[in-house]
Amino acid sequence: MKRILTYVLIGLGVVFVAIQFLSVERTNPPVTGLVDAPEDVLTTLQRSCWDCHSNETDWPWYAHVAPMSFRVSQHVRMAREHVNFTEWDSYDAEELDEAYEEIAEEIEEGGMPLSDYLLVHRNAKLTTADRDRLVSWAESARERIAAPGR
Ligand code: HEC
Repeated sequence: MKRILTYVLIGLGVVFVAIQFLSVERTNPPVTGLVDAPEDVLTTLQRSCWDCHSNETDWPWYAHVAPMSFRVSQHVRMAREHVNFTEWDSYDAEELDEAYEEIAEEIEEGGMPLSDYLLVHRNAKLTTADRDRLVSWAESARERIAAPGR
């Protein structure tokens, strides 16, 4: 019994070392266009969303250790695909409208930031006031898209 356990532990150790050699994407491409938001909203986005939804990810130490690195890298890739606050210039009016709509929805549902991220980034937690501010910002941005010049 004891010997089996030793083999299992050695096996796990070998796998752990081996997966460290798999390549994981951890890039910060150039910022092409910053989200159009007033200072206070921008500050909240930078505090709570930036690590995943921007090209200025602050890659934490565990993003360098497999298997956590796989998860972090995948989250950042998916988050950037959905909404990238530092490639704002790449969105047309329709895409912007969709982004604002999804932001308001996510914030209202309490889906963002991801809960496991909040465990290690407590200061990213949104207060009720932060939430209200982000939702009203996103909603008024949608109104301006629907009726420009107002
Ligand atoms: C730890 C990484 C992380 C943080 C921090 C984070 N997100 Fe996300 N976000 C994701 C991932 C991953 C997805 C893609 C989820 C999916 O496809 O299921 C996502 C998706 C989204 C979407 C698209 C949802 C949809 O239905 O298409 C919006 C909008 C969004 N996030 C807004 C935010 C906002 C606003 C913040 C800050 C308050 C934030 N996120 C913080 C990882 C993050």
